[in-house]
Amino acid sequence: MIKAIKVMTLSSLLAASALYGVSTAACTGCHGANFEKSAMGKSKVVKDMSKEEIVKALKGYKDGSYGGAMKGLMKGQVASLSDADIDAIASSIKGGDAKAPAKTKAPAKAEAKVVDINAKVADKARLEKEDLGNKKEVDETVLGLRKTSLFNEDVKPNNGKFDRPAPGAAPKFERAYVNAPPMIPHSVDGLLPITKDNNQCLGCHMPDVAKGVGATPIPPSHFTNYRPETVLKDGELVKEGKKVGLKGDIGNVGDIKLAKAKKLNHLYQGRFNCSQCHAPQANVDTAVGNTFKPDGLTDEFKTHSNLVDMMNDGVE
Ligand code: HEC
Ligand code: HEC
Ligand code: HEC
Repeated sequence: MIKAIKVMTLSSLLAASALYGVSTAACTGCHGANFEKSAMGKSKVVKDMSKEEIVKALKGYKDGSYGGAMKGLMKGQVASLSDADIDAIASSIKGGDAKAPAKTKAPAKAEAKVVDINAKVADKARLEKEDLGNKKEVDETVLGLRKTSLFNEDVKPNNGKFDRPAPGAAPKFERAYVNAPPMIPHSVDGLLPITKDNNQCLGCHMPDVAKGVGATPIPPSHFTNYRPETVLKDGELVKEGKKVGLKGDIGNVGDIKLAKAKKLNHLYQGRFNCSQCHAPQANVDTAVGNTFKPDGLTDEFKTHSNLVDMMNDGVE
């Protein structure tokens, strides 16, 4: 399932936007600055296609008559392009003089439809039937979520189907609570594992490219280091420039005044492993219903987070 995919480095993404007019800037994150890459390991190398082939492919994605497994993603890319735009883009890819006309309107994106991830497991009839809150005595044969004796180690993993649509074609999931990390709504085929040198997520989610591909930009909190600077100096522990204890008596967190958040101009590396917090979702039958009800999850917070604003509230 995991396929090797070319690394999309941030530097190539940044260099990319400068080369072409606005209209192909959105393409380069996936196809490379000069369309020299196989997008997500799936597409042909577009620079090697003839102008006619490119036009045919782009028109085909638009009307649904062309494409492979990830054609849904390309459909979103070309939906708002006119035939003339397509022609101009193909010319500019092939190094013709024609400058692609600037896109006048934003790509037609379907009105965000958010899926309630818990719709099935918070079903009222089911919750009443399970009545977990009123169960006084639970014997060990049904104690575990797997509903089988704890003494029976013969447990099969619940192999759910992770068959989500490709990025660009996946309805997002409602957030579980205010400022919860959103779950990954799209397929992660070929994107995992995330390693130090290969983080495909950045290729679409870094703020400067996200808009172009219709992805939610990585929020400011991920560009901030919230950890207090801690050093051991002359045998003493110094946090944020303040001695907080001696060897053998290293003080406690109460000694640390509010750590000054350090805004970075790059992704804070404590966040590099995206799937540690943002998990791909499988369609499974849960062992018990979900009775959790979040407070204050207004429509806005079902699709947005504002952690940085909340943390900075009242801070000068
Ligand atoms: C989010 C990543 C992404 C972006 C952005 C993107 N593409 Fe693609 N592109 C793909 C993928 C993946 C495929 C292969 C789709 C398939 O399965 O048919 C593809 C296929 C193509 C093809 C056909 C190649 C083939 O394999 O037949 C062309 C031409 C193309 N893209 C041009 C563009 C242009 C022009 C833009 C910008 C307007 C663009 N793409 C934006 C990912 C992307
Ligand atoms: C090819 C571009 C692309 C890549 C690569 C990609 N994403 Fe996405 N991502 C999207 C798009 C587009 C959306 C919006 C939903 C949709 O249209 O499918 C999205 C949505 C999301 C969301 C939901 C955001 C919200 O507002 O609810 C999360 C979380 C996410 N992606 C995480 C990841 C992680 C983690 C990775 C790496 C494993 C990754 N994405 C790789 C394009 C991409
Ligand atoms: C330590 C846990 C953690 C890691 C690691 C992490 N995130 Fe997040 N992410 C969160 C939380 C919590 C939120 C919601 C609160 C906020 O905005 O910070 C969030 C929010 C988001 C959002 C939604 C922003 C919005 O406007 O609503 C996106 C997109 C996202 N993260 C992408 C990523 C990507 C891509 C990576 C990997 C580079 C990543 N995250 C790594 C915890 C994490």
